[in-house]
Amino acid sequence: MITAIYPGSFDPVTNGHIDIAERALRIADKLIIAVLNNAEKTPLFSVEERVKMLQDTVGVKHPDVEIEAFSGLTVEYARNKKAQLIIRGLRAVTDFEHELQMAQINYKLYPDLETTFLMANIKYAFLSSSVVKEIATYGGDISHFVPPLVEQRLREKL
Ligand code: PNS
Repeated sequence: MITAIYPGSFDPVTNGHIDIAERALRIADKLIIAVLNNAEKTPLFSVEERVKMLQDTVGVKHPDVEIEAFSGLTVEYARNKKAQLIIRGLRAVTDFEHELQMAQINYKLYPDLETTFLMANIKYAFLSSSVVKEIATYGGDISHFVPPLVEQRLREKL
């Protein structure tokens, strides 16, 4: 039985995140999407809002996926959840250096936890929450990048 954690900021969740989560479900018996509550970052959406958007999108389609907020180290959260795997999406080679560093650090902190990278669908290779927020700020069309519900929440917020 493989329990996987898919950690991230999800500020907000995009179609790229959903694609990675759905592909992770092919590997893991149990998937936990863990939303970082990080006091150092100033996200657009509160952690509660980010969790809710994930619940209203991924959670509705896949009720078995656990979605919750966490703070502190990902490895400690994974240890508490008895997870064996961290899932991260890789969009392009530019992601690799940072992701490799995180994976190596996490491995050093908790060697029983493996990191698996899933390659994002080429459709979403350019997509990030930051890009979505920037386009939405200037009134651009984000309907191809996020679920309708997230588009609506972004419009309300901005
Ligand atoms: O969606 P993001 O912002 O790329 O996700 C980054 C995240 C949340 C996976 C990463 O910042 C993280 O794991 N933060 C928790 C603190 C931690 O464990 N740091 C050590 C690894 S560098």
